[in-house]
Amino acid sequence: MNASSQEITPADLADLIRRKPRIAALTGAGISVESGIPDFRSPGGLWERFAPMEYATIHAFRKNPAKVWGLLKEMDRIITAARPNPAHYALAELEAKGKLLGIITQNVDNLHQAAGSKKVVEYHGNAHRFVCLNCHGQHPRESLDFSQVPLYCYCGGLIKPDVVFFGEPIPREGKRDADHLAATCDLLLIIGTSGEVSPANYLPGFAQGNGALIVENNLEPTRLTRTVTDYFLPGKAGELWPEVMKNLDS
Ligand code: APR
Repeated sequence: MNASSQEITPADLADLIRRKPRIAALTGAGISVESGIPDFRSPGGLWERFAPMEYATIHAFRKNPAKVWGLLKEMDRIITAARPNPAHYALAELEAKGKLLGIITQNVDNLHQAAGSKKVVEYHGNAHRFVCLNCHGQHPRESLDFSQVPLYCYCGGLIKPDVVFFGEPIPREGKRDADHLAATCDLLLIIGTSGEVSPANYLPGFAQGNGALIVENNLEPTRLTRTVTDYFLPGKAGELWPEVMKNLDS
């Protein structure tokens, strides 16, 4: 941890949340690990099994879609079986209490929405939607036969999950909404992201530059802890966030 970041408890964090009127959250794969979705960079994570430069770039998908569908089908199987965990529900409850302006999520698993969160910025898209790379037509999941991958649109274009591959831009409205939240919040809750991937990883510094306090909940310190985090809450999100909410209500 850098000199400035201090460890806090769920009770301390509840007190901060009570005192701050404009709170936003930035979430990553770690918040969904307790829902059964492995993260990317922890031991045993997805990138250990599927080399990202071979499977997760738009170039790789265009060049060898059948191979990349190996990862996509695995992700689809895991994501469709996953359900929100207490950390997702805690953020939905904060929003319902009027204490959360919105969530910027790097996750594509739709679990924040499934937990009841309404203001979710899908910074990397959503794996429940499917889109044609050529005509951008949307394809409902139930119209697709995953035993016949690669999948092609009636225009002949390749169909892919509506998620951002490496080498693709962040959706314009997602970037606009995320920048707005980072620019206007006075407390940014970072949950379950290593902060390794840009441009999402510039948001905490941007928020701090606009006067926000930065709180990070991760299993262990990350590059964010060493550079921008003010308060660090170590541990599993699914266990800690019910504690935060219990303290908030007490
Ligand atoms: N509770 C809290 N944090 C957790 C938990 C948990 N139960 N389990 C893991 N973590 C932490 C890990 O310690 C790590 O710091 O979550 C973080 C996950 O980091 P990554 O695997 O790098 O995932 P993420 O930061 O979301 O990756 C960002 O990279 O590959 C791209 O597009 C992909 O959106 C993804 C982006």
